[in-house]
Amino acid sequence: MTLSMTTENTNPEDEVMCHCSGTKRGDIQTLFEQGKDMDAISRWTGALSGCGGCEWDISDFLHHLAEQKKNNV
Ligand code: FES
Repeated sequence: MTLSMTTENTNPEDEVMCHCSGTKRGDIQTLFEQGKDMDAISRWTGALSGCGGCEWDISDFLHHLAEQKKNNV
């Protein structure tokens, strides 16, 4: 029995979190892992510099990553 390829590629890393700048979840995670905070991530990626509609999602994601990091230590 073979597992068929799913029709959709739902890799969350490729999910665009900021549509204005095209910043993906994976980009934000990489910058977070480099120790960058929300301001720095915004400067690096252009996220939050457009409509600002992604602010809640991104800050929520960063909180989530920070929690994960805390729990792994
Ligand atoms: S979606 Fe991020 S600034 Fe508009």
